[in-house]
Amino acid sequence: MNAKTILVTGGAGYIGSHACVELLQDGFKVVVVDNLSNSKIESLNRVQQITGKKPSFYQTDIRDKQALADIFAKESPTTVIHFAGLKAVGESCDKPQLYYNNNVYGTLVLTDVMMHANVKQLVFSSSATVYGESSCPQYTENFPLGAINPYGRSKAMIEDILRDLSAADRNNQSKYPWKIALLRYFNPIGAHESGLIGEDPNGIPNNLMPYVAQVAIGKLKQLSIFGNDYPTPDGTGIRDYIHVVDLVKGHINAIAALNSESYKCGGCNAYNLGTGKGYSVLEIIDAFQKVTGKPINYKIAPRRSGDLAECFANPELALKELNWKVEKDLHDMVTDTWNWQTKNPQGYI
Ligand code: NAD
Ligand code: WQD
Repeated sequence: MNAKTILVTGGAGYIGSHACVELLQDGFKVVVVDNLSNSKIESLNRVQQITGKKPSFYQTDIRDKQALADIFAKESPTTVIHFAGLKAVGESCDKPQLYYNNNVYGTLVLTDVMMHANVKQLVFSSSATVYGESSCPQYTENFPLGAINPYGRSKAMIEDILRDLSAADRNNQSKYPWKIALLRYFNPIGAHESGLIGEDPNGIPNNLMPYVAQVAIGKLKQLSIFGNDYPTPDGTGIRDYIHVVDLVKGHINAIAALNSESYKCGGCNAYNLGTGKGYSVLEIIDAFQKVTGKPINYKIAPRRSGDLAECFANPELALKELNWKVEKDLHDMVTDTWNWQTKNPQGYI
């Protein structure tokens, strides 16, 4: 059993709640800090139902420095997993101030509090959106960065800040240097196999999988496929969809790596978390129809601005340095999404 305490910002959210389950099942003590701006406390009740254990919970904004410092003093975490952030690309274009304030300033406050508390192990939720457009659709960590919207730029800025913190410690030969893993997620989908926790978007979903699930259950009438004239085999966009449970296991492996010999002198490294395989929008619809037995009503619509034709991960570095690879396939992702959707047609209520 591992008695270490992990502080999870954004732990009531979609990915954070799945991470809480894995952490508790692995014997960690879990402290969640979430302002519930995009989640409901019910997700943590469900985490307790699955694991039989209760994470400590603070309804706190990570930008509230004093409150956060008090939590660190009380709970003495050894490591932080930082999920808290706003994530809607379209909204970030309308409200860039909100995104930079919440995501970038929030991370500045968090890292400041961490330094004062001498907690310098951090796993950060980055995104494949930090990459610039590339002629090669399979993205490797050393590809040039070049986010094209405020949300993506907020993630890229945070990555820069964290790399700079680590570099400063290296230059100063700090005795207790920052150890940071930047995890670049591709397209997380799916849900815990119990169907008790899953993705519960506010309003009409922006992302493909929750949209398809809501069409299948009859909440939404029709899916718009954003473009069928891309240079891909069936003309629709290709993405690297990854099961959320595989994704959160990558975080557990990252914590182990930060505690290992290879991070003895500190460091800040980026890792792709993806499967290495892409599926098109039509392939996702087909998989969904096969699993659910329900037809998905769709129409072809114009391309969505900012979308790439094809994007999937090269996950070799995560295998080599985090000893992580995915275990679940597209059938599992669709089955678990549908299980969550049918058991919780209105999300958490
Ligand atoms: P989510 O919205 O479900 O979870 C984020 C959580 O953070 C929510 O519970 C929200 O209430 C909380 N939060 C936001 N701002 C906060 C603040 N200032 N203080 C305290 N809590 C705050 O999103 P998710 O899908 O679980 O994503 C988690 C992280 O992973 C985010 O940082 C997101 O940008 C990143 N990410 C998500 C995806 C994806 O497709 N879901 C892909 C790549 C990266
Ligand atoms: C997938 C494919 C769409 C909706 C986004 C963010 C990214 C990351 C993950 C946080 C594309 C097509 C979608 C629809 C469609 N989030 N599509 N009709 O755009 O790859 O990534 O979520 O970090 O930052 O940009 O995911 O699920 O929106 O789209 O045809 O109603 O489905 O064009 O090809 P995306 P997505």
